[in-house]
Parts: sequence; C-alpha cells; structure tokens
Amino acid sequence: MTDAVFRELVAAAALPYRRCGRYAWHFAKGKLAGDPVFRHLLSHSLLPARGRLLDLGCGQGVLTALLRAAADRHASGGWPADWPDPPAALVTHGVELSAKRVRIARAALGADAVIQGDIRSTDLPACEAIVILDVLLYLHPDEQAAVLARCADALAPGGVLLLREADAEGGLPFQITRWAEQAACAARGHWRQPLTYRPAAGWLGLLGTLGFDTAALPMSQGTPFANTLFIARRSNTPVQNYTSSHEFADASIRPEMKPRPTANPVQNS
Ligand SMILES: C[S@@+](CC[C@H](N)C(=O)[O-])C[C@H]1O[C@@H](n2cnc3c(N)ncnc32)[C@H](O)[C@@H]1O
Repeated sequence: MTDAVFRELVAAAALPYRRCGRYAWHFAKGKLAGDPVFRHLLSHSLLPARGRLLDLGCGQGVLTALLRAAADRHASGGWPADWPDPPAALVTHGVELSAKRVRIARAALGADAVIQGDIRSTDLPACEAIVILDVLLYLHPDEQAAVLARCADALAPGGVLLLREADAEGGLPFQITRWAEQAACAARGHWRQPLTYRPAAGWLGLLGTLGFDTAALPMSQGTPFANTLFIARRSNTPVQNYTSSHEFADASIRPEMKPRPTANPVQNS
C-alpha cells in the first residue's frame, strides 16, 4: 500500500469524527497517520478475519474507525493487491473509562461502538482477539497482571492479544516516552497519575506465565518513543464461559453483522 492510499484510508476513517468537532477529527487523523501501530496491524494481517475483537481502553475508537474504513475500501474493490485482506467479519467492542471519549466514540461510530467501563472490572466476553494499546501503564502491577489473566481466559484457543507498552529498558527513548506521558497527564490535570512501566522482558515473562506464546516488535517507527508491540497467542487452556455479553453492544465493522451467540465453554482442540 502506498503512502497516498494509506492517507486516503486514514482520511476516510477520521471522517465520522468531523461531527464531533475539530479536535476529535484532527486527533483521529493525526493518531492513525502518525502512530505506526495502526498501519502495522493492517499490513501484517495480525487480526483474525472474523469473530469478536475487544479494544480495551479504546479512547475515541480510532481502531474501529480504521477497520471499518478498510473493510469498506476492500468491499468497493479499491484495496491494494500487495496488502492482506482486512478483517471483514470482525465484530468490535470498545471499553473505555473516560466518559468524554465514550461520547465521542459513540457520536462518530454509533451508540453501540463502545461501552463505558473499567477494564479492571468489566467482564470480558469470549473473543478471538484483544487489543490493548498504551493503556496498562495506568494500572498498578498487580492490576496489569489481573487484566492480562482475564484476557487469557476470554480468548479462544489460538486467539491473539496485541499489547503495546513502553519498554522500561529502552534508554533515552523510554525517558522521552515517560516524560511525554507525564506531561500529557499533567495537561489533563492528572498530576498524581501513577505510571507503571516494565522492561520488554518483564512483559514477555508475565505473558509467558499466563500461557501466551509471544513475539515482541519495536513499534515506535517515526516517533521518538520506545514502544513495543507484543503479539501474544493464546494456547491450551479452556475458555471460560461468559455471562455478561449483554453488556457489550454490537459494533460490527460491517453493519449487517451480528455477534455470534453466547458460547458454551470451549474445550481445547
Ligand atoms: C493513551 S490512550 C490510548 C487509547 C487507544 N488505545 C489508542 O491507542 O488510541 C489510553 C486510554 O486508556 C483509557 N484507560 C485508562 N485506564 C483505563 C481503565 N482502567 N479502563 C478503561 N480504560 C482506561 C484512557 O481513558 C485512555 O482513553
């Protein structure tokens, strides 16, 4: 995919945010164009074609917006031949703490796009993929581990968890990442927000203890930061049944899609 085509895709993804005001619109464009993780997700086929995707700490929902724009472009025949097909039958669910961001996401993407909730306590329905981008740093270490353990329970065997966090052993780029985050928290009035970072090896170890097979990739290209994308595949433990999928409204990439019915416990294959 050329840069020009990706720019068109970003513009299409950001368009629904125009109705939310200039800031939300420009933020969506800047985030999708400037953060390498979004292009990487599409160009490397990291998400399953179908099933349920949870975006935990989804902010204003730009990942869902991008996946919808990609699915639309693919359906209309304008998808570059050198890129893998985007997920066309993946039902997305966002969970976000901030009421303001939930309002923006719903105004742009529909009332069903996101639920307001705290990922430390919101029940996670069975799913095929989970994305957590730049969120766990806001949690205490034991809370991080507990959220990841619940992700492991929710994911189907072979399901994928895409986690991005800064690498605390990332030298100066890590210090820049931390300073930038502290400045952003201060700008929001959250002076005392604790930030918990781990070395990439620490994240790998934690994910390993939870039964994930994980690969780690630098994911800061074009930025001064020290972010790592962990691609964690779940294997070999039963998926827990879930009882609270009613809390998750449908936010299908394609409007005609419906989530699959509540599943019985899935056993190892
Ligand atoms: C840096 S933003 C990243 C947003 C989004 N993942 C993205 O990449 O565009 C972190 C988001 O996590 C949310 N967040 C922080 N703690 C959370 C929690 N306990 N439960 C749900 N969301 C949370 C914040 O409100 C914020 O929107």
